[in-house]
Amino acid sequence: MTNYPITKLVDSWNREIDYLRIAVTDRCNLRCFYCMPAEGIDYLPKKELLTFEEIIRLATIFASLGIKKIRLTGGEPFLRKDFISLLKNLKEIPGIEAVHITTNGVLTQPYLEEMKTIGVNGVNLSLDSLNRENFHKITRRDEFKTVMKTLDGLTARGFNTKINMVVMHGKNTHEVIDMAHLARDRKISVRFIEEMPFNGSDMSASQKNWSHVRILEELKEAFPSLKKLDSHPSNPATLYQVEGHSGNLGIIPAFSRTFCGACNRIRLTATGTIKNCLYDEGVLDIKGLLRNNKSDDDLREILISTVQKREKDGFAAERNRRVDKNISESMSSIGG
Ligand code: GTP
Ligand code: 5AD
Ligand code: SF4
Repeated sequence: MTNYPITKLVDSWNREIDYLRIAVTDRCNLRCFYCMPAEGIDYLPKKELLTFEEIIRLATIFASLGIKKIRLTGGEPFLRKDFISLLKNLKEIPGIEAVHITTNGVLTQPYLEEMKTIGVNGVNLSLDSLNRENFHKITRRDEFKTVMKTLDGLTARGFNTKINMVVMHGKNTHEVIDMAHLARDRKISVRFIEEMPFNGSDMSASQKNWSHVRILEELKEAFPSLKKLDSHPSNPATLYQVEGHSGNLGIIPAFSRTFCGACNRIRLTATGTIKNCLYDEGVLDIKGLLRNNKSDDDLREILISTVQKREKDGFAAERNRRVDKNISESMSSIGG
């Protein structure tokens, strides 16, 4: 058990925060255009990234504040050297009940056995196309076959697997139904995500044409037996079942933000900044505090008061950005 009594992180809207998303690197081996410019971003110097020791210390503090679930993201988390050892250490923290990963699947396959042994609780795989050429166009890299091998490896080993498809007007919208068919014989969740205006790209076409409402209409038309499933209110995905399919389908209104009311998440970016919301600009430089020898007790107090500043929803968080009204930061340093 922890050495500390658990003081829960509860915001001023009475939402309990029990889910921490940690971006372990801003680097990525793909260049998905909705996330990064073709030339890449200026990667952070290594010393700007939290070390594994710092991440583990923070995760332990968060666990003593009631965090039960951690999701590791990037950039691409497997680009971080010895990422497996971080997974192992996080799994051993008392109070952390689940460790999940969001990955693009390029480097993941060789680690699947170890991940199974460690007891990784779930893997979300980014996959925006089922066509090799279109995958190449979207990600600017020819890695489709490798990613599909990872998907096969995940399902063969019985991982709790979710596919993330960002729905992009005119780029992969013709593949929505093919993608949904992945859940016919596989016990996975295939999720369709509204494109968000990160990386300053012009998002109007996707926002105008492909909201969660339109995605649902398309699915209903192709699968008349589609039925809504119950899911936890804090789950950003609304889940659906097609009769006879092994897996299920999900729609994530990431831009419409219909799920903020039950938000239970806090984020730690690759640079060691705390974000109360995906849409805020970062509310606390916790790396600076760590490196200025703050004690665990000090950090706990600061985190408790930081959470009090959480906005009601992603719209308020976006409105209140001070430095950068247009969201131009790359998703690869936030971690989604
Ligand atoms: P689980 O519920 O743990 O499976 O996580 P998830 O599905 O939220 O995580 P994942 O990293 O797979 O993210 C899927 C999509 O949801 C990505 O496009 C994220 O950017 C988006 N997303 C995740 N959390 C939030 C959030 O708090 N707000 C918004 N607007 N989008 C989110
Ligand atoms: N809009 C929606 N989802 C995005 N992701 C990355 N950038 C965006 C965006 N602009 C998704 C990735 C990954 C998850 C962490 O976030 O596809 O699956
Ligand atoms: Fe990489 Fe993910 Fe961004 Fe694509 S969305 S470039 S996989 S970090």
